[in-house]
Amino acid sequence: MGSDGYLPLFETRRARGRVLYRLFVVSVFVGICLIWIYRVSHIPRKGKDGKWGWIGMLGAEFWFGFYWVLTQALRWNQVYRCTFKDRLSQRHEKELPKVDIFVCTADPVIEPPVMVINTVLSVMAYDYPPEKLSVYLSDDGGSDLTFYALLEASHFAKHWLPYCKKSKVEPRSPAEYFNLSDDPLDANQSKELVFIKKLYDEMENRIKNAAKLARISEELRSKHRGFSQWYSYSSQRNHDTILQILIDGRDPNAKDKDGFVLPTLVYLAREKRPQHHHNFKAGAMNALIRMSSEISNGPIILNVDCDMCSNNSHSVRDALCFFMDEEKGHEIAFVQFPQNFKNVNRNEIYDASLRVMTEVEFHGLDGCGGPSYGGTGCFHRRDTLCGRKFSKEYKTDWSSLNGIRRKDSVHELEKNLKGLASSTYDKNTPWGKEMGLLYGCPVEDVITGLSIQCRGWKSVYFNPSKKAFLGIAPSTLPDALVQHKRWSEGGLQILFSRYSPAWYAQGKISLALQMGYCAYCLWAPNCLATLYYTVIPSLYLLNGISLFPQISSPWFIPFAYVISAKHICGLAEFLWCGGTILGWWNSQRMWLYKRTSSYLFAFMDTILKLLGFAESGFVISTKIADEDVSQRYEKEIMEFGTSTPMFTILSTLAMINLVCFVVVLKEALMGEGIIRVYETMSLQFVLCGILVLINFPLYQALFLRKDKGKLPSSLAAKSIVLALLACISFTLLY
Ligand SMILES: *[C@@H]1O[C@H](CO)[C@@H](O)[C@H](O)[C@H]1NC(C)=O
Repeated sequence: MGSDGYLPLFETRRARGRVLYRLFVVSVFVGICLIWIYRVSHIPRKGKDGKWGWIGMLGAEFWFGFYWVLTQALRWNQVYRCTFKDRLSQRHEKELPKVDIFVCTADPVIEPPVMVINTVLSVMAYDYPPEKLSVYLSDDGGSDLTFYALLEASHFAKHWLPYCKKSKVEPRSPAEYFNLSDDPLDANQSKELVFIKKLYDEMENRIKNAAKLARISEELRSKHRGFSQWYSYSSQRNHDTILQILIDGRDPNAKDKDGFVLPTLVYLAREKRPQHHHNFKAGAMNALIRMSSEISNGPIILNVDCDMCSNNSHSVRDALCFFMDEEKGHEIAFVQFPQNFKNVNRNEIYDASLRVMTEVEFHGLDGCGGPSYGGTGCFHRRDTLCGRKFSKEYKTDWSSLNGIRRKDSVHELEKNLKGLASSTYDKNTPWGKEMGLLYGCPVEDVITGLSIQCRGWKSVYFNPSKKAFLGIAPSTLPDALVQHKRWSEGGLQILFSRYSPAWYAQGKISLALQMGYCAYCLWAPNCLATLYYTVIPSLYLLNGISLFPQISSPWFIPFAYVISAKHICGLAEFLWCGGTILGWWNSQRMWLYKRTSSYLFAFMDTILKLLGFAESGFVISTKIADEDVSQRYEKEIMEFGTSTPMFTILSTLAMINLVCFVVVLKEALMGEGIIRVYETMSLQFVLCGILVLINFPLYQALFLRKDKGKLPSSLAAKSIVLALLACISFTLLY
């Protein structure tokens, strides 16, 4: 409680054990410095003693050390937030602001309409005055199927929303809810639940049937005037703006079955023309910002991806506790919730839960100025998203914001507003440069958030124990790797962009936050040092040249300390975030695979792009998997399935290490060899051995598995040949 009896709407707590952690960090840093000193002072004189290999190790270790320092910015000062929603309702229930919710979808096949409407229904059913909620679906697929599904959802909402309110349903995505409450033995299931479930199942069937036919029947078409807009539609990339206000919150007839008002519901497919760049999701979001400013103009905007259901009906109120706090609220531009996933399995073979990022690193960012904008599960002030600079005098008068309303009828609105979503609207305007989401970067969200923070605003990371949003994580290895390629490529592009956290942000945000951003932007260059470390020491092992201190040397100690401290700390962190030991081991494998494939390709693509060679594209990650694939996912078997250049690299690296390991092990087991290996090359040998161990699932996929998710045998042959070539040519070199 403040001295004047003022009760804040939210509270910020610092993490416990900070002093201990900082001491530990300092001790590791001393170890890293000792390693650097050792490397610099012990460079071999002659090439044949491994001089060049040594210098490379120096470079790699210098990079690892530097990068480790950056990641400490994400851990140094972690904070946790909690909200007081009861105080919010006591003080502000009458003047709660309007909230506009954007749901973005891009492809009716990859993102099935049933999933999309579950997300839409989950956010329509927020525990919030419905007349103040507006939900916008942006369909970049321009699909009449998605529109049809949304139309069905708008009817179903009339039953679902009152039911949610009456029975205090959680979570409010119907599919998730029925999934959880689907207990055939539960005789207490009320009549109403049975009825609602039947309605839902029928709706789902109709949508799935339409999807199977891949078109909307004439009979359905004739039922709603909205379908007429598809007559001018020629393809996903070439069509007029399609705007349909399915539920108009102003309409006195728009009531649910109990006679309560419904939230506004709008479908938008912005105009697409092959000759104009559509700027992917950023373009869609900007069209939505403009469109919504004329329809509902809520001062708060929430955006979610179409796979990301709300799992907590109170999240809007949570977010408002930050914005509406009388003392600190005015400096907060956005409130980011973590991305959590409903489909990660226990041991997370693809490390897709982003556990450490959501449970540790973002709390660290929050402690030094605020998390980055993650592109989904984030509440924004409309003002700041539209480019407003921060000023101390700026205070929102929430009660004045709810009045603005257009008088046009729905028809007129639909007709008059279409221009706002035209494919050329942005041209020669500040949109995409200073207003809205920024264009030209594969991670438009991060750069947008950074630009907002550079304008002086703070952001907040709110991670309640009951998760607010649940999405779908990639469930095959190629998907996971492609996703990380996009992220790491985008990060590196931000570093070189106008809004570089290294240069532009200098003096605008705190140094720690700059470092934190850089740690993300520098994902991709990690590939070089990691590749070096996974190949060169093993090859030198083959030649009997030692690149690490002997076990009896005092220089061995810093190596042993840094390596074990880093991994034990990493494991502890992982377990603390709720992971398992096997999950940690799997995350180490993914760490390796991401760095040696996704990051490598991202790095090369970015360099090529900087040199003016290539254009980057936007790949949507698959949200559905066929039966076979899901079963393997359940059993935690890695899914490779195809032969991509990424897998060629991964298998070749794995084979090189296997060859080196087997050859050296054989030598070591014969005669005196074992003592020599133990004394002079133990670290190198252990490193090679761990790489072999961690690659075990890959060897399985190459040689042992028979299912469809294995690696093709052509790739096995190719990687063996490449690995042998590498080993032989390296041996000949010396
Ligand atoms: C999602 O919501 C349900 C219902 O309230 C809850 O039981 C579950 O724990 C939530 N999920 C997560 C991951 O928090």
